[in-house]
Amino acid sequence: MQAYTSLFEILNKAIEEQQTSLNTSSPKEMYEPMNYIIGLGGKRVRPLLTIVGCDIFDANPNEAIHAALAVELFHNFSLIHDDILDNAPLRRGNTTVHEKWNHNIALLSGDGMMVKAFEILGKSNAKHIPELLQLFSKTGLEVCEGQQYDMNFETQDNVSVEHYIHMITYKTAVLLGCSLQMGSICANASLESQKHLYEFGKHVGIAFQILDDVLDVYADDEKFGKQVGGDIISNKKTFMLLDAFELANEEQTKELNHLLFSKEISTTEKVKQVTALYNNLGVKELAIKEANKHTDIALKHLEELKANESKKQHLKEFALHLLNREV
Ligand code: IPE
Ligand code: IPE
Ligand code: MG
Ligand code: MG
Ligand code: MG
Repeated sequence: MQAYTSLFEILNKAIEEQQTSLNTSSPKEMYEPMNYIIGLGGKRVRPLLTIVGCDIFDANPNEAIHAALAVELFHNFSLIHDDILDNAPLRRGNTTVHEKWNHNIALLSGDGMMVKAFEILGKSNAKHIPELLQLFSKTGLEVCEGQQYDMNFETQDNVSVEHYIHMITYKTAVLLGCSLQMGSICANASLESQKHLYEFGKHVGIAFQILDDVLDVYADDEKFGKQVGGDIISNKKTFMLLDAFELANEEQTKELNHLLFSKEISTTEKVKQVTALYNNLGVKELAIKEANKHTDIALKHLEELKANESKKQHLKEFALHLLNREV
């Protein structure tokens, strides 16, 4: 997005500097994978939101750069570990860290990156550190809790839509809310403004994860950069799977249970047949509808925010663009 070109420049330069320092750190077995995953790029949505959350109040975006770096390092840590949890072979179009190296290296280099995130956050303006630290720690813990629910749900059969929304709020959405709020803290924004930005980010995050689950089934293999069908293979309780169980007739319920729990079906066949059931039941459309509900809630919070009106419009356009993603 053109409106964010110069903010992206500030961000990418800061990330490059981080990479240079990681490049010269030892032991290289621990630092190389950090550089690898960061070098694969990704959309860098969260750190962008942090500097946008500062800039939207017409404060200097550089005030939020350490918080932005912290959030991207934390995100990358969570991806390295998430790929172990999800047994994922591909990330950002490349081999995942635990497959390229091994599990032990993925664990340690992830741990190191999470500690680095806190180290960098500590370089923020001293007057903001207590507030930033409290929000960042609370959010980090929630992400881990969300990941635990995500795993618990793989083998739990009484998961409701409310449980699912709670799980994705924690594993994904709160970090988007936190990213924006940290930026607004660096801009000395009022608590009320901080809360509106947090809620905006959180609801964009909920929509983002619902659509991520849709993409996991329906994305174009070439563009997605992750294994299509991975959620089906590991029996992830997504909005679509929950709805499929809700809408299925007796025969379809039997078929779905068979596909999920039979050891005789190949993963390719499982993905193909579960997708066919999703198509028959129309659950993709229902998931998109649910995502739109949260986008609308997010936009209401943005409307209520007292900030630079044209910059609010840019943030709205950015969020809508993000929710139309293919990767
Ligand atoms: C991936 O996040 C993890 C989810 C919450 C779905 P992104 O889709 O933002 O990943 P990158 O950073 O752009 O690769
Ligand atoms: C991601 O959920 C949540 C975190 C990384 C904390 P997913 O498992 O759906 O993310 P992807 O699809 O692997 O990026
Ligand atoms: Mg995953
Ligand atoms: Mg996961
Ligand atoms: Mg996913």
